[in-house]
Amino acid sequence: TDLYAVMGNPINHSKSPQIHSAFAEQTDQPLVYSAILVPTDGFPAAVKDFFKGKGSGKGLNVTVPFKEEAFQLADELTARAQKAQAVNTLILTSEGSILGDNTDGAGLVKDLTRNQSTPLTNKRVLVIGAGGAVRGILQPFLQEQPSELVIVNRTFGKAQQLADEFKDLGPIAAKEFTQLADEAPFDVIVNGTSASLNGDLPPVPGSIISEETVVYDMMYGKEPTAFLVWASEQGAKTLIDGLGMLVEQAAVSFELWRGVAPDSKTVLASLRRQLQ
Ligand code: ATR
Repeated sequence: TDLYAVMGNPINHSKSPQIHSAFAEQTDQPLVYSAILVPTDGFPAAVKDFFKGKGSGKGLNVTVPFKEEAFQLADELTARAQKAQAVNTLILTSEGSILGDNTDGAGLVKDLTRNQSTPLTNKRVLVIGAGGAVRGILQPFLQEQPSELVIVNRTFGKAQQLADEFKDLGPIAAKEFTQLADEAPFDVIVNGTSASLNGDLPPVPGSIISEETVVYDMMYGKEPTAFLVWASEQGAKTLIDGLGMLVEQAAVSFELWRGVAPDSKTVLASLRRQLQ
Protein backbone atom coordinates (compact mmCIF):
# COMPACT_ATOMS: atom_id res chain seq x y z
CA THR A 1 0.00 0.00 0.00
CA ASP A 2 1.33 3.41 -0.92
CA LEU A 3 1.64 5.86 1.95
CA TYR A 4 0.74 9.54 1.88
CA ALA A 5 0.59 12.07 4.70
CA VAL A 6 0.26 15.69 5.65
CA MET A 7 3.04 17.20 7.77
CA GLY A 8 2.55 20.29 9.90
CA ASN A 9 2.69 21.72 13.39
CA PRO A 10 0.00 21.82 14.70
CA ILE A 11 -1.70 19.09 12.69
CA ASN A 12 -4.56 17.68 14.79
CA HIS A 13 -7.24 19.86 13.14
CA SER A 14 -6.15 19.01 9.59
CA LYS A 15 -8.98 17.80 7.37
CA SER A 16 -6.55 16.43 4.77
CA PRO A 17 -6.64 12.79 6.00
CA GLN A 18 -10.42 12.76 5.77
CA ILE A 19 -10.45 14.42 2.34
CA HIS A 20 -7.79 12.18 0.79
CA SER A 21 -9.23 9.02 2.33
CA ALA A 22 -12.58 9.91 0.75
CA PHE A 23 -10.87 10.53 -2.60
CA ALA A 24 -9.07 7.16 -2.36
CA GLU A 25 -12.29 5.34 -1.62
CA GLN A 26 -14.14 7.04 -4.50
CA THR A 27 -11.43 6.16 -7.01
CA ASP A 28 -10.48 2.71 -5.63
CA GLN A 29 -6.90 3.76 -5.04
CA PRO A 30 -5.01 1.50 -2.59
CA LEU A 31 -3.42 4.08 -0.33
CA VAL A 32 -3.21 5.14 3.29
CA TYR A 33 -3.11 8.84 4.18
CA SER A 34 -2.20 10.00 7.68
CA ALA A 35 -1.36 13.18 9.60
CA ILE A 36 2.15 13.58 10.98
CA LEU A 37 3.01 16.11 13.69
CA VAL A 38 6.55 17.27 12.98
CA PRO A 39 8.70 19.18 15.50
CA THR A 40 9.48 22.67 14.18
CA ASP A 41 13.19 21.83 13.79
CA GLY A 42 12.61 18.35 12.39
CA PHE A 43 11.05 18.81 8.97
CA PRO A 44 13.94 17.74 6.68
CA ALA A 45 14.56 14.60 8.75
CA ALA A 46 10.86 13.72 8.78
CA VAL A 47 10.60 14.09 4.98
CA LYS A 48 13.72 12.00 4.41
CA ASP A 49 12.45 9.30 6.73
CA PHE A 50 9.04 9.30 5.02
CA PHE A 51 10.37 8.87 1.51
CA LYS A 52 13.62 7.00 2.10
CA GLY A 53 12.86 5.07 5.29
CA LYS A 54 11.41 1.58 5.64
CA GLY A 55 7.88 2.56 4.60
CA SER A 56 6.69 3.26 1.09
CA GLY A 57 5.98 6.96 1.27
CA LYS A 58 4.93 8.28 -2.14
CA GLY A 59 3.63 11.78 -1.50
CA LEU A 60 3.24 14.47 1.15
CA ASN A 61 1.16 17.52 1.77
CA VAL A 62 2.90 20.25 3.70
CA THR A 63 1.18 22.84 5.82
CA VAL A 64 2.04 25.56 8.36
CA PRO A 65 4.88 26.24 9.18
CA PHE A 66 6.84 24.11 6.69
CA LYS A 67 5.85 25.32 3.20
CA GLU A 68 9.01 27.41 2.69
CA GLU A 69 11.22 24.62 4.04
CA ALA A 70 9.56 22.20 1.64
CA PHE A 71 10.35 24.64 -1.16
CA GLN A 72 14.00 24.64 -0.06
CA LEU A 73 14.42 20.88 0.17
CA ALA A 74 12.63 19.74 -3.00
CA ASP A 75 15.03 18.39 -5.66
CA GLU A 76 12.87 19.81 -8.46
CA LEU A 77 10.05 22.34 -8.56
CA THR A 78 7.08 22.99 -10.81
CA ALA A 79 6.99 26.47 -12.35
CA ARG A 80 4.15 27.57 -10.09
CA ALA A 81 5.95 26.36 -6.94
CA GLN A 82 9.10 28.14 -8.08
CA LYS A 83 7.16 31.37 -8.45
CA ALA A 84 5.28 30.91 -5.16
CA GLN A 85 8.49 30.05 -3.29
CA ALA A 86 6.34 27.73 -1.23
CA VAL A 87 5.44 24.05 -1.60
CA ASN A 88 2.33 22.30 -0.29
CA THR A 89 2.78 19.04 -2.19
CA LEU A 90 5.79 16.72 -2.46
CA ILE A 91 5.88 13.85 -4.92
CA LEU A 92 8.38 10.99 -5.07
CA THR A 93 9.20 10.66 -8.77
CA SER A 94 9.90 7.35 -10.49
CA GLU A 95 13.58 8.36 -10.56
CA GLY A 96 13.57 8.69 -6.78
CA SER A 97 13.84 12.48 -6.63
CA ILE A 98 11.44 14.71 -4.71
CA LEU A 99 9.34 17.08 -6.81
CA GLY A 100 7.72 20.09 -5.10
CA ASP A 101 4.49 21.66 -6.30
CA ASN A 102 2.04 24.22 -4.97
CA THR A 103 -1.62 23.38 -5.59
CA ASP A 104 -3.18 26.12 -3.43
CA GLY A 105 -3.71 28.61 -6.24
CA ALA A 106 -4.95 26.01 -8.69
CA GLY A 107 -7.39 24.86 -5.99
CA LEU A 108 -8.72 28.37 -5.50
CA VAL A 109 -9.05 28.93 -9.26
CA LYS A 110 -10.91 25.61 -9.60
CA ASP A 111 -13.26 26.48 -6.78
CA LEU A 112 -14.03 29.87 -8.34
CA THR A 113 -14.31 28.84 -11.98
CA ARG A 114 -15.97 25.41 -11.67
CA ASN A 115 -17.80 25.27 -8.35
CA GLN A 116 -18.85 28.92 -8.26
CA SER A 117 -19.10 29.60 -12.01
CA THR A 118 -16.88 32.66 -11.59
CA PRO A 119 -14.31 32.90 -14.37
CA LEU A 120 -11.46 35.35 -13.80
CA THR A 121 -10.74 36.01 -17.44
CA ASN A 122 -11.13 39.74 -18.31
CA LYS A 123 -12.30 40.44 -14.74
CA ARG A 124 -11.05 43.15 -12.39
CA VAL A 125 -9.69 41.32 -9.38
CA LEU A 126 -8.66 42.65 -5.96
CA VAL A 127 -6.41 40.54 -3.73
CA ILE A 128 -6.07 41.65 -0.11
CA GLY A 129 -2.92 40.53 1.71
CA ALA A 130 0.67 39.80 0.70
CA GLY A 131 1.71 36.88 2.91
CA GLY A 132 2.43 33.27 2.06
CA ALA A 133 -1.19 32.46 1.21
CA VAL A 134 -1.35 35.21 -1.43
CA ARG A 135 2.07 34.38 -2.88
CA GLY A 136 0.71 30.90 -3.62
CA ILE A 137 -2.23 32.09 -5.72
CA LEU A 138 -0.82 34.89 -7.90
CA GLN A 139 0.60 32.76 -10.70
CA PRO A 140 -2.57 30.65 -11.19
CA PHE A 141 -4.69 33.83 -11.00
CA LEU A 142 -2.66 35.72 -13.60
CA GLN A 143 -2.73 32.65 -15.84
CA GLU A 144 -6.51 33.13 -16.08
CA GLN A 145 -5.83 36.53 -17.67
CA PRO A 146 -7.81 38.96 -15.54
CA SER A 147 -8.01 42.47 -17.07
CA GLU A 148 -6.40 43.82 -13.89
CA LEU A 149 -5.17 42.38 -10.61
CA VAL A 150 -4.82 44.90 -7.79
CA ILE A 151 -3.00 43.82 -4.64
CA VAL A 152 -3.31 45.73 -1.36
CA ASN A 153 -1.69 45.04 1.99
CA ARG A 154 -1.32 46.60 5.44
CA THR A 155 2.43 46.65 4.87
CA PHE A 156 2.46 48.24 1.42
CA GLY A 157 6.07 47.27 0.68
CA LYS A 158 5.15 43.57 0.66
CA ALA A 159 2.38 44.17 -1.89
CA GLN A 160 4.82 46.20 -4.00
CA GLN A 161 7.37 43.41 -3.79
CA LEU A 162 4.86 40.80 -4.99
CA ALA A 163 3.66 43.05 -7.82
CA ASP A 164 7.29 43.42 -8.96
CA GLU A 165 7.93 39.68 -8.75
CA PHE A 166 4.81 38.71 -10.71
CA LYS A 167 4.49 41.55 -13.22
CA ASP A 168 6.05 39.43 -15.97
CA LEU A 169 2.96 37.19 -15.76
CA GLY A 170 0.22 39.78 -16.23
CA PRO A 171 -1.32 43.14 -15.29
CA ILE A 172 -0.68 43.26 -11.53
CA ALA A 173 -0.41 46.52 -9.56
CA ALA A 174 0.11 47.23 -5.86
CA LYS A 175 -1.98 49.92 -4.17
CA GLU A 176 -2.32 51.41 -0.72
CA PHE A 177 -5.59 50.73 1.11
CA THR A 178 -6.35 54.47 0.92
CA GLN A 179 -6.18 54.41 -2.89
CA LEU A 180 -9.12 51.98 -3.03
CA ALA A 181 -11.52 54.86 -2.42
CA ASP A 182 -10.96 55.90 -6.07
CA GLU A 183 -11.64 52.44 -7.51
CA ALA A 184 -14.86 51.27 -9.13
CA PRO A 185 -16.36 48.09 -7.62
CA PHE A 186 -14.30 44.98 -8.42
CA ASP A 187 -15.67 41.87 -10.13
CA VAL A 188 -13.88 39.53 -7.72
CA ILE A 189 -12.34 40.24 -4.31
CA VAL A 190 -10.20 37.68 -2.47
CA ASN A 191 -9.30 38.18 1.17
CA GLY A 192 -5.98 36.41 1.66
CA THR A 193 -5.12 38.04 4.97
CA SER A 194 -5.24 36.23 8.27
CA ALA A 195 -7.29 39.10 9.75
CA SER A 196 -10.42 36.92 9.90
CA LEU A 197 -8.68 34.62 12.37
CA ASN A 198 -9.04 37.39 14.96
CA GLY A 199 -12.37 38.61 13.66
CA ASP A 200 -10.57 41.69 12.25
CA LEU A 201 -11.35 43.43 8.97
CA PRO A 202 -8.78 44.77 6.53
CA PRO A 203 -9.40 48.54 6.11
CA VAL A 204 -11.12 48.50 2.69
CA PRO A 205 -13.95 50.88 1.72
CA GLY A 206 -17.46 49.59 0.97
CA SER A 207 -17.33 51.30 -2.42
CA ILE A 208 -15.21 48.46 -3.86
CA ILE A 209 -18.26 46.19 -3.62
CA SER A 210 -21.38 46.06 -5.77
CA GLU A 211 -24.18 43.50 -5.82
CA GLU A 212 -22.32 41.65 -8.57
CA THR A 213 -18.98 41.48 -6.77
CA VAL A 214 -17.95 37.91 -5.95
CA VAL A 215 -16.32 37.99 -2.51
CA TYR A 216 -14.02 35.16 -1.42
CA ASP A 217 -12.35 34.65 1.96
CA MET A 218 -9.59 32.05 2.04
CA MET A 219 -10.54 31.37 5.68
CA TYR A 220 -13.54 29.31 6.69
CA GLY A 221 -15.38 28.29 9.82
CA LYS A 222 -18.76 27.29 11.18
CA GLU A 223 -19.92 30.89 11.02
CA PRO A 224 -19.28 33.22 8.05
CA THR A 225 -15.99 35.10 8.47
CA ALA A 226 -16.00 38.75 9.59
CA PHE A 227 -15.01 39.75 6.06
CA LEU A 228 -17.90 37.90 4.42
CA VAL A 229 -20.37 39.36 6.93
CA TRP A 230 -19.05 42.84 6.15
CA ALA A 231 -19.19 42.23 2.37
CA SER A 232 -22.78 41.06 2.68
CA GLU A 233 -23.62 44.27 4.57
CA GLN A 234 -22.13 46.22 1.62
CA GLY A 235 -24.57 44.45 -0.70
CA ALA A 236 -22.47 41.61 -2.14
CA LYS A 237 -24.67 38.65 -3.09
CA THR A 238 -22.02 36.00 -3.77
CA LEU A 239 -20.01 35.15 -0.68
CA ILE A 240 -17.61 32.20 -0.62
CA ASP A 241 -15.37 30.87 2.14
CA GLY A 242 -12.16 28.87 1.81
CA LEU A 243 -13.56 25.36 2.36
CA GLY A 244 -13.83 24.79 -1.40
CA MET A 245 -10.23 25.91 -1.89
CA LEU A 246 -9.15 23.39 0.77
CA VAL A 247 -10.90 20.51 -0.98
CA GLU A 248 -9.83 21.55 -4.48
CA GLN A 249 -6.14 21.98 -3.63
CA ALA A 250 -6.35 18.46 -2.19
CA ALA A 251 -7.97 17.21 -5.40
CA VAL A 252 -5.18 18.73 -7.51
CA SER A 253 -2.55 17.07 -5.28
CA PHE A 254 -4.39 13.74 -5.41
CA GLU A 255 -4.53 13.81 -9.20
CA LEU A 256 -0.80 14.60 -9.38
CA TRP A 257 0.00 11.63 -7.17
CA ARG A 258 -2.43 9.07 -8.56
CA GLY A 259 -3.27 10.24 -12.07
CA VAL A 260 -7.01 10.14 -11.45
CA ALA A 261 -9.29 13.07 -10.69
CA PRO A 262 -11.50 12.59 -7.61
CA ASP A 263 -15.05 13.88 -7.35
CA SER A 264 -14.32 16.87 -5.14
CA LYS A 265 -17.88 18.19 -5.06
CA THR A 266 -19.35 15.35 -2.99
CA VAL A 267 -16.45 15.57 -0.52
CA LEU A 268 -16.93 19.33 -0.24
CA ALA A 269 -20.65 18.85 0.40
CA SER A 270 -20.01 16.35 3.19
CA LEU A 271 -17.37 18.56 4.84
CA ARG A 272 -19.82 21.45 4.67
CA ARG A 273 -22.49 19.38 6.44
CA GLN A 274 -20.00 18.44 9.17
CA LEU A 275 -19.09 22.08 9.80
CA GLN A 276 -22.68 22.91 10.65
P1 ATR B 1 -0.27 33.55 5.54
O1 ATR B 1 0.72 32.45 5.32
O2 ATR B 1 -1.59 33.11 6.11
O3 ATR B 1 -0.45 34.43 4.35
P2 ATR B 1 1.36 35.61 6.67
O4 ATR B 1 2.44 35.33 5.70
O5 ATR B 1 1.71 35.89 8.10
O6 ATR B 1 0.35 34.39 6.75
O7 ATR B 1 0.47 36.81 6.09
C1 ATR B 1 -0.64 37.31 6.77
C2 ATR B 1 -1.28 38.39 5.92
O8 ATR B 1 -2.44 38.90 6.60
C3 ATR B 1 -0.39 39.59 5.66
O9 ATR B 1 -0.73 40.14 4.40
C4 ATR B 1 -0.79 40.53 6.81
O10 ATR B 1 -0.49 41.88 6.57
P3 ATR B 1 1.03 42.42 6.85
O11 ATR B 1 1.86 41.95 5.69
O12 ATR B 1 0.90 43.89 6.88
O13 ATR B 1 1.44 41.82 8.15
C5 ATR B 1 -2.26 40.31 6.83
N1 ATR B 1 -2.93 40.65 8.09
C6 ATR B 1 -2.90 39.94 9.25
N2 ATR B 1 -3.67 40.52 10.18
C7 ATR B 1 -4.23 41.63 9.61
C8 ATR B 1 -5.13 42.64 10.06
N3 ATR B 1 -5.62 42.63 11.31
N4 ATR B 1 -5.47 43.62 9.18
C9 ATR B 1 -4.98 43.63 7.92
N5 ATR B 1 -4.12 42.70 7.44
C10 ATR B 1 -3.75 41.71 8.27
